[in-house]
Amino acid sequence: MTARFIAFEGGEGSGKSTQAELLAKALGAVLTREPGGTDIGIRIRGVLLDPATRALDARAEALLMAADRAQHVAEVVRPSLAAGRHVVTDRFAASSIAYQGYGRGLPIEEVRSLCEWATGGLWPDLTILLDVPHDVAVARLARELDRFEREDGGFHARVLGGFRAMAAADPERWVVLDGTCSVDAIAARVRGAVRDRLQLPV
Ligand code: TYD
Repeated sequence: MTARFIAFEGGEGSGKSTQAELLAKALGAVLTREPGGTDIGIRIRGVLLDPATRALDARAEALLMAADRAQHVAEVVRPSLAAGRHVVTDRFAASSIAYQGYGRGLPIEEVRSLCEWATGGLWPDLTILLDVPHDVAVARLARELDRFEREDGGFHARVLGGFRAMAAADPERWVVLDGTCSVDAIAARVRGAVRDRLQLPV
């Protein structure tokens, strides 16, 4: 059986991390995330999420995300797939296109090329978008907010719009699920999508 690469995407508080964990467990897959899926990535993540990183330029932000991703692909994703393990990641390149492209306003095609370069052309076999309106998501974030979560509603609306546009443009490789349902209901739909699209017994 070919090892598959599955990404979860969505805005803040969309429940991705919970669903990524549940799916990885059900599949016996390697569970990982961005930014911060490696030791080097954890240090890059510290810079990226710290609200004290005020002056970070949008291009520098995109490059740090790309650096985190390059390391993640080289150290975790490709070796795991090569060893025959499925990989489930909490965020991948589409997050850069949504946040740095649609959110920050960097040219979408340039951000896509940067992702392509950072990953050596590796894209997920399936990307699952958990669609949750930002106001619903904010109510779920009951902790101190990081640098991205402090962005205004307009920013988050552009990010979600970006994810929806990517999913609509590539329906073969994307599944959009309503992320406002219960954890169990979403998990069942996630497994259903993985069965249908990737023919995996889960
Ligand atoms: P994290 O705490 O992992 O948030 P979440 O639980 O919402 O995934 O923080 C990651 C933040 O980084 C999140 O706000 C999205 C942002 N991000 C980007 O802006 N670009 C990227 O390429 C990635 C991977 C994440």
